[in-house]
Amino acid sequence: MSEPAEMPEVTIEGLSASMASAVRRALGGRSIVLVGMMGAGKSSIGRRLAIALDIPFLDADTEIEKAAGMSIPDIFESKGEPYFRAGEARVIARLLDGGPQVLATGGGAFMNEQTRAAVREKGISIWLKADLDVLLRRVKRRADRPLLKHGDPAETLEKLMAERDPVYAQADLTIGSRDVPHEAIVGEIVSMLAERLAVAEVGQ
Ligand code: S3P
Repeated sequence: MSEPAEMPEVTIEGLSASMASAVRRALGGRSIVLVGMMGAGKSSIGRRLAIALDIPFLDADTEIEKAAGMSIPDIFESKGEPYFRAGEARVIARLLDGGPQVLATGGGAFMNEQTRAAVREKGISIWLKADLDVLLRRVKRRADRPLLKHGDPAETLEKLMAERDPVYAQADLTIGSRDVPHEAIVGEIVSMLAERLAVAEVGQ
């Protein structure tokens, strides 16, 4: 039996398998690193992006928990935030050697200058940028974020966004994370990556 030649295999809405594999090839050993605020959708979009590109997905927070043998709320509670941040930077530095992969980072990770340098060297960073009201709606679904344990979550998020947004803006690509199906965002990311990687190849 012969294969139908002209039938593009569609992996997710509007995204052809050939575009996904071209992006995967162009990535080489680099990681796609998702950065942005809590609630921006780094893990849920990252997981789907990895499926679309057929590369592994890793969540830095989960890997930190594995390395510490403790949950993130417990690390904050018993060891404090500076200890968490040091571990976070170490774990991400190690994970970046494992590309190609999609790596979702915790909201504060990209604030570390060494982490940003390592991401620049070994990955392509994508800021998932979401409005405060979208973030707020999403973070309310989970009660395990230590930074939102005290005080008014809206105020805390707003303050963190003011500090962090200029730093997230240093990411290679920015995608608006809004309330549309995740597949739509994944499609946009793959198209932007295709464009970006092709441009980089021409420029070399
Ligand atoms: C944090 C975000 C969390 C987690 C920790 C600190 C932050 O990850 O790393 O609670 O500083 O914004 P998510 O962004 O995945 O929620």
